[in-house]
Amino acid sequence: MSVIYQKEKKQFLLHTVHTTYAMEVYGGCLAHSYWGHRIANVPTIDERYACGLHGSMAPVDLQGELLYSTDLLPQEYPTFGSADLRHPALHIRYADGSNVTRLRFESYRMLQGKPKLMGLPATYGTEAECETLEIVLLDAVSKIRVVLYYTVFPELDIITRSSRIVNEADKSCVLERAASFALDIVEDDFTFVHLRGAWARERHIAMIPMEYGTVSIDSARGASGHSENPFFAMKKNDATETKGEVMGFALVYSGNFLGEASMDHYASTRIQMGINPLNFHWNLGPGEEFQTPEAILCYSDQGLGEMSRRFHRIIRKNLCRGVYRDAPRPVLINNWEATYFDFDQNKIVEIAKKAKLVGVELVVLDDGWFGKRNSDDCSLGDWKVNTEKLPEGLSGLAQRINSLDMNFGLWFEPEMVSPNSELYQTHPDWCIHTPGRERTQSRNQLILDMSREEVSNYIIDALSEILTTTAITYVKWDMNRNMTEAAGAEQAHRYILGLYHIMDELTTRFPNVLFEGCSSGGGRFDAGFLYYMPQFWTSDDTDAVERLYIQEGTSLVYPIGTMGAHVSAVPNHQTGRTTPLDFRGAVASMGRYGLELDLTKLTQEELNEISTQIQEYHRYEQVVHAGDLYRLRTAYSRKDAAYQIISEDGSTVLVFDFCIVGEPNGKVQWLKLQGLDAEAVYEDVETGKCVGGDSLMYAGIPVSHGCDLKTQKWVLVKR
Ligand code: GLA
Repeated sequence: MSVIYQKEKKQFLLHTVHTTYAMEVYGGCLAHSYWGHRIANVPTIDERYACGLHGSMAPVDLQGELLYSTDLLPQEYPTFGSADLRHPALHIRYADGSNVTRLRFESYRMLQGKPKLMGLPATYGTEAECETLEIVLLDAVSKIRVVLYYTVFPELDIITRSSRIVNEADKSCVLERAASFALDIVEDDFTFVHLRGAWARERHIAMIPMEYGTVSIDSARGASGHSENPFFAMKKNDATETKGEVMGFALVYSGNFLGEASMDHYASTRIQMGINPLNFHWNLGPGEEFQTPEAILCYSDQGLGEMSRRFHRIIRKNLCRGVYRDAPRPVLINNWEATYFDFDQNKIVEIAKKAKLVGVELVVLDDGWFGKRNSDDCSLGDWKVNTEKLPEGLSGLAQRINSLDMNFGLWFEPEMVSPNSELYQTHPDWCIHTPGRERTQSRNQLILDMSREEVSNYIIDALSEILTTTAITYVKWDMNRNMTEAAGAEQAHRYILGLYHIMDELTTRFPNVLFEGCSSGGGRFDAGFLYYMPQFWTSDDTDAVERLYIQEGTSLVYPIGTMGAHVSAVPNHQTGRTTPLDFRGAVASMGRYGLELDLTKLTQEELNEISTQIQEYHRYEQVVHAGDLYRLRTAYSRKDAAYQIISEDGSTVLVFDFCIVGEPNGKVQWLKLQGLDAEAVYEDVETGKCVGGDSLMYAGIPVSHGCDLKTQKWVLVKR
């Protein structure tokens, strides 16, 4: 039993193998009492705060029920308007203009397994894998019920949370803010860890030591976006990659979000995450309910490294879906950086022929195959092949690729419309816009309103037609702009619900197609997307050094097997840097290895090297897919980086070492491996040398970092 209710203490205990999360019904409030290392007995709120939760001038609205003001009490789902004056999880405006909500515990229910979150992506699990606790809170005056969902995945050391708000009154109300979860920790020694970025430098790790006040990350871009990822962690100040306490939070959502940690004047830290309340006003009619997105919560007392591995396991096993969740994925070549818009059938076939020789299995045709699209200024929405470029049509090209014994994949940007397109001429009102206002363009395009049924049907039909009539086994689903002039305060979320519906429909209709997400590179790389598409184009920046920062940052939460990672040409198109081919290959093989360059321009020697890289990648693909990642040395030193991946069964270990900037005649360094079996002996596949697991972990492998841009790789097999 991982969910326990202790009646006499009014305590809920959520146990995973290594952690315990505890709540208590305290004077009618749902109080947060503990989250940390697994313990059998959790002290009650009175015991825990025996020396008092102090607060001069704290308002007490509890009519003698409670010892503490709710302004001090650590809570699970705080509301606006009454004695708790901190940032609320829930803020509702009622029909009469009032906005006081005061939730009190009403009931609970325990379920084996996990109910589906209708219309939203979420983790899933069998009755053997997880248990769910539903706690119902009620505001007796407004007749608002809130159902808090807690699902415990004991083996994965993960808890997921979401909330459902039900309006049982006979009048409408407006949700001004409805977080997915909130959590109060009466501690103050935290560092806020997040993933910030921009186009071509997504998800760089950043740390902010907490002080009194609020630290937050958000997006109001209509998508999770490049600048902040819907993930953050609260790391104890003394926690490191391998040691200490860390709490991580990942939102399973692809739209506007807010994640925040607020430390108050009593050194208590409130953590919450959910849909961004900025320009969010959701009308909840009588009898209606609102389901928030889900958040994945992870506690680790073995530092950020173990937190990441726990996130990776749940995302890999209980969030990603479909045949490609477990099946090997093809090595692909994408023509974007090889040709940009300047291609025709002959050019693609020419690249494909070379690709076949090096072992590529899938040829992906990127942007520019439809309408009149020879640059980014037209034709989005007109999903009809351009026969000037492809005289035999998509099917003809697919057949040519198939006759080379390779599969064919295609790029779409389904959510968009170019003003210069037939679709826009016919349906100028289908895009997101505010009447009377300019329709702001970005990359010469507008966003289709995916919340409208006729628009989503058009997209589903247009893509289905192509996927049915052409032998396509892969789709790159791109999205290249932020949302402006949203029509109203429900638009942004309704758009995401519409998008999820479309992706659900298409991935269900075409279960054997591998879908890869993309958004100007990795602008929407989030847990919501990974539910529909098991891999994502990590960044348009294909420079191997920049990719180390991006891929390491991404690995804080997302598994490396979800990251599209391609070997591209040098000098690199984004940074101008020239890196050796083996360096580029090693970085790409720590993700979903692929190619993105004109193979017809490479020497035979380079082609041979790529062919070897592909063979090697395939040999260890399963290790990358399902293994455990250890970040041995961080790339954020800007000097070097090292990573280790242990296969799921522990038998194979891949070790990558990268020297970014060499130190001539420098010191000897030892790479100390982690997570090995100390008693076992590991054989270096290349040299046949056998070394004990203890020696590899505590004495380490000697590495020299004398020259720039050098990489070394070891494959160790347990004997
Ligand atoms: C985006 C993607 C690229 C490429 C182009 C095509 O920028 O991230 O990979 O597909 O669009 O326009």
